[in-house]
Amino acid sequence: MRKNAKEIKIIKSPAALQKFSKKMQAHGKSIGLVPTMGALHKGHASLIEMSAKNNDITIVSIFVNPTQFGANEDFAIYPRRLKADAKLCATAGANIIFAPEPQAMYPLPLQTFVHNPSLEHLYCGKYRPVHFAGVLSVVAKLFNISLPNKAYFGEKDFQQLHLIKKMVQDLNFPIKIIGAKTIREKSGLAISSRNEYMSPKEREAASSIYAGMITAKKCCKGRSTCLLPTELKNIIQKKIQQAGGKIQYIEIVNKNDLMPAKTTKNAVILLACYFGKTRLIDHLEL
Ligand code: PAF
Repeated sequence: MRKNAKEIKIIKSPAALQKFSKKMQAHGKSIGLVPTMGALHKGHASLIEMSAKNNDITIVSIFVNPTQFGANEDFAIYPRRLKADAKLCATAGANIIFAPEPQAMYPLPLQTFVHNPSLEHLYCGKYRPVHFAGVLSVVAKLFNISLPNKAYFGEKDFQQLHLIKKMVQDLNFPIKIIGAKTIREKSGLAISSRNEYMSPKEREAASSIYAGMITAKKCCKGRSTCLLPTELKNIIQKKIQQAGGKIQYIEIVNKNDLMPAKTTKNAVILLACYFGKTRLIDHLEL
């Protein structure tokens, strides 16, 4: 992270940001966008640093997007702390924060959504039916407002990243999508804004997610063709359940199309589970 962080500019109006980005484009400046919902952590900082290194201007959007939360999810309690986030953004090298109010993003209820009917109801989408249409639609809006050359997303939300890449490809957005490796705590727990919902005990127990996936991966070594998904799922499930976690789903999929994997080649574990009331997702390539 940079030591001498500059004051960061906060823009709240979509029209003002679009005007700014058009001006930057006209001056031949490259724009990197890091879309976030705030409560920024080391994972976001690494995305911002990557963007700052590779673009003239880095915009971080901070918007807890209501349309991607289901009725009984954590929209109301999702952590909001713009002041601390602004500090992290400045230190990591961002130039602009785009922090619109919901009213500015949705002056009227959205009638036009981006859907991926093939993938939005699988895995996480099975349990969060409105989630991915909400994500794709807000990301499309953020792209049209900030006009980036490149946009940066964490691999932690593996299904989300895949769907965004597919949207960009299918709808010809002139934007390069960069996926960045998941940043983990020392225990192996993937860093997430939602980790702070957990008690210290739950947080410690949640390290079993990574431990379970690593054990499964070790079992695959040298068995390139004979993947046994049920066996692998059982290994992970046992580890998480022994630590007090509740599995929502564990799937082994092909990382290129997210369809069920037949071999370990290009296979990735996707899972969601609960520790206490906190829903966590994670993934690991085999
Ligand atoms: O990953 C997130 O934080 C959100 O889903 C995103 C991509 C910013 C859209 O609201």
